[in-house]
Amino acid sequence: EVIATALTVLNKSDVLPFQIEGKVSNEDLRLEYRYLDLRRPEMARNLRLRHRVTKASRDYFDEQGFLEVETPILSNPTPEGARDFLVPARMSPGAFYALPQAPQQYKQLLQVAGVEKYFQIARCFRDEDLRAERQLEFTQVDVEASFITDVEIQTLIEGLLARIFRESKGVEIPTPFPRMPFQEAMDRFGSDKPDTRFGLEIVELSDIFAETQFKVFHSILASGGVIRALNAKGAAEKFSKEQLKKWEEWAKTELGAKGLAYIKTNAAGEWESPIVKFFSDAEKAALAERLDIEPGDVVFFGADQWHAACETLGRVRLRCAELLELVKDSDALNFLWVVDFPLLMFVPEDNKWVAVHHPFTRPKAEDIPLLEAGEFAKVRAVAYDVVLNGVELGGGSIRIHEKELQAKMFETLGIGPEEQQEKFGHLLRAFSFGAPPHGGIALGLDRLVMLITGTESIRDVIAFPKNNRGLDLLTQSPVTVDHKQLRELYI
Ligand code: AMO
Ligand code: AMP
Repeated sequence: EVIATALTVLNKSDVLPFQIEGKVSNEDLRLEYRYLDLRRPEMARNLRLRHRVTKASRDYFDEQGFLEVETPILSNPTPEGARDFLVPARMSPGAFYALPQAPQQYKQLLQVAGVEKYFQIARCFRDEDLRAERQLEFTQVDVEASFITDVEIQTLIEGLLARIFRESKGVEIPTPFPRMPFQEAMDRFGSDKPDTRFGLEIVELSDIFAETQFKVFHSILASGGVIRALNAKGAAEKFSKEQLKKWEEWAKTELGAKGLAYIKTNAAGEWESPIVKFFSDAEKAALAERLDIEPGDVVFFGADQWHAACETLGRVRLRCAELLELVKDSDALNFLWVVDFPLLMFVPEDNKWVAVHHPFTRPKAEDIPLLEAGEFAKVRAVAYDVVLNGVELGGGSIRIHEKELQAKMFETLGIGPEEQQEKFGHLLRAFSFGAPPHGGIALGLDRLVMLITGTESIRDVIAFPKNNRGLDLLTQSPVTVDHKQLRELYI
C-alpha cells in the first residue's frame, strides 16, 4: 500500500544473535544484547506496563496529598537485614558511604521535619543472594505519614493497589483484603507469606504423640518442639521411593531440616513408611483420622521446634502444590495482610535477638511491659505485610517515635549506648525534638509488576537487570579498576 519514490538507508544491521519474535531460551544471550531483547513485543509490553504502574502510583499519592521527596543514595548504613554496598569516600580517606537498603531513616526524619505525607519511587540496594524475585538494586514505592494508624495505612495501600490493577490490567480487586495473624499463617501454611490459592494445610499432631515410643519424636517433644504434618492427597502416584529419598535430601540440605519422614499409602490402603513401625495402633488410628488418610495419599512429617517445623512443611507444601498443579485459577489474585508479627526473633547461631522487620518497628502498646520484662519472644509488633499469591509485595509498620523506647530497642538488639550514638545518634537526636507518631510501608515495585505481567522472573520487568550471579552481562560490570584509581580512594 506504500509506493516508495526514494529510499535512504539510515543504518545497517548485523545478523541478529536471536530472532526478535517468539521465545528466546538463552537468558544470558538476551541480557548481553538487552537492547535487542527489549525490542521483543513481550518485553516492550512489560516496560509500558511498568510505566503505567509507576504513573498510577504517583497520581494516586499526589491526589491524596502526599509529597514525593528524594533521599540520598550516598548515605549511612540502614539495617534492613541484608549486606550493605559500600562506596569509598575520596574526600574522607578511609571512610565509606553505604548505598541505602531502603530510605527508612530519611523518611522518618522527614516526619520530624513536618512532611506529614511522604512518598517516593525509591531505588534500594541490597547485597544479598539473588533469586527469581530478588535483585541487588530494586525499586520501592515507599510511603510514610504522621499521625496515622496501621489500619489507615493498610486502607491507603488497598486503594493504591486497586487503582494500579484497574489502570494497568483492567481488573477490579475486592477490598478490604483479609487479615491473618502471623501465628495463624505459620500454623496453617508454614509461611509468613501464605499462598492461599489452595488448601493443603499443615496439621498439629504433638498431642497424638505425647506418649510415643518413637525416639525421634519423643526427644523433639521433650525439648519443647512439635510434631506436625500435611497430607498431599492423591500424591502417591507421583512419588516413587527414589523421589521420596530425593525430597528428604532436599529438606536436609536446602531447608536445614533434620529429616522428612513420610507415609505413602498405596491403592490397597497399606502404609509404606520408614517410621510407622514405631507407632502404636492408637497413634496410627488417631493419625489416620486427624489427617484424613485415604489410599493414594502421601503424608509428610515435620518434627522440630515450632518455627522450623512450620517452615519446612511450608516449603514442602509449595512444592507439592506445584507437582500436583493445585493452583487451578491462573487469574486468581489472593491478596491478604499478615499482621501481628513478632517484634523480635532469637538467632541461636549468633546467640542474639534480631528485629523481625527492622529496629524502628513499634511494639504493640500492650506488649511493651513484656519487652521491659525481657520476655522478648512474646512481644508483638505493629507491623504488617501485604501478600499476593504467596509473594511478599510489601511490608511496613508503625514506628517508635520516642527516644527512650528506641534506645531500649537498640539495647535489646545488642547495640550498646556508644554504638547507638555512633550509628543512630542522628535519629535519637531527632526524636528529642517533638517527633510526631508515624508509620509507613514500602511495596516492591518490581515484584508487583512481575505479578501483574505474570512473568516468572523479576528480570523481565527491569530494563537492565543483573543476572543471578550479580553480573550485568551487557556492560560486563562489575569490573576491576587500576591501581591509580584505588590509590585515590586510599584502598
Ligand atoms: P522490606 O525490607 O520488607 O521493608 O522491603 C519492602 C519490599 O521491597 C521488596 N524487596 C525487594 N524486591 C526486589 N529485590 C530485593 N532484593 C528486595 N528486597 C525487598 C519486597 C519487600 O516487601 N523500610 C522497610 C519498609 C517500611 O518499614 O516502611 C523495608 O524496606 O517486595
Ligand atoms: P532416623 O531414625 O534418623 O533414620 O529417622 C527415621 C525417619 O524419620 C527418616 O525418614 C527421617 O527422615 C525421619 N526424621 C528424622 N528426624 C526427623 C524430623 N525431625 N522431622 C521429620 N522427620 C524426621
